[in-house]
Amino acid sequence: MEAVNHQIATRMASENAPRIPEVTRHLVDAGGKRLRPILTLAAARLCGYAGEDHVKLAATVEFIHTATLLHDDVVDESAQRRGRPTANLLWDNKSSVLVGDYLFARSFQLMTECGSMRVLEILADASATIAEGEVLQLSTGGSLDVEVDTYLKMIHGKTAALFAAASEVGGVIAAAPEAQVQALRAYGRDLGMAFQIVDDVLDYGGSSARLGKTVGDDFREGKMTLPVLIAVAEARAAGDEAALAFWKRCIERPSKQQEGDLEEALRRLRETGALDAATTRARDYTAAAVGALDQFPDMPLKTALADVAEFVVSRLS
Ligand code: IPE
Ligand code: IPE
Ligand code: MG
Ligand code: MG
Repeated sequence: MEAVNHQIATRMASENAPRIPEVTRHLVDAGGKRLRPILTLAAARLCGYAGEDHVKLAATVEFIHTATLLHDDVVDESAQRRGRPTANLLWDNKSSVLVGDYLFARSFQLMTECGSMRVLEILADASATIAEGEVLQLSTGGSLDVEVDTYLKMIHGKTAALFAAASEVGGVIAAAPEAQVQALRAYGRDLGMAFQIVDDVLDYGGSSARLGKTVGDDFREGKMTLPVLIAVAEARAAGDEAALAFWKRCIERPSKQQEGDLEEALRRLRETGALDAATTRARDYTAAAVGALDQFPDMPLKTALADVAEFVVSRLS
């Protein structure tokens, strides 16, 4: 990870436009969990890779992630990221969009240095899928009628696709047998699904101080995340008109939300068991992720990847 951080620090610099290192340093120095590069490094070594290109790939994956964060905070109008004010707040939307574009481009420069067309294909596909997921979310905004399948497709796009790719390229660079490469992909995908569901639960049940981002953003933006989807489905099944009216008002016209609405939403999500049900779903994905590792013999790196899966759900407690 030290080598990855070094790659990130040297590659994010641009001598031609000082705004670029200013913005990226602000975000990169704030840390972040670095989960995705960990997957790439661990996957490569798990498959017996002895070279050094996995460091470049891990940095590539973190660059893609960082670019999406810059763009996502513009789209979500978020004010806090990694415990700091967002770049869009400190500078402006234009800087975030353009520096995000720069980081995306840098990520492609880095991955071509590894010389693998297959790696290029996997990460290019993931980049397109992330954008699709974000646009799908954008276009489902403001409506209570979002199907669970649509939600799952959306989080697969915006989050799980990069987790899947991050793990898969580790196996590919190691020239692992296809069954292992596919197992790594499945592991990353299911881990990513769990990760986003947990993130969506934490947006209601978590603490801003611990998360480093403002809790309640999803609600204020009127986003149909899994906890709300479950609560709405239950209200419909029970014919609970008061609950339905509440969700309809808050989700369909988020700008009209009132003082105390977020607290009421949290209370409803807790009381109906919607947060617990979403958590169970996240745990199911985590179990599936760990199950995919059965393709590998027991060794410390396999345990480490299983620990990452455990870490993802442990964020809830
Ligand atoms: C944030 O990802 C975006 C989501 C997919 C929820 P992380 O929570 O991994 O962000 P950092 O890198 O640790 O800040
Ligand atoms: C994260 O989306 C996905 C990407 C950054 C592509 P969210 O909007 O759910 O994540 P946070 O809560 O801002 O980290
Ligand atoms: Mg966001
Ligand atoms: Mg978003």
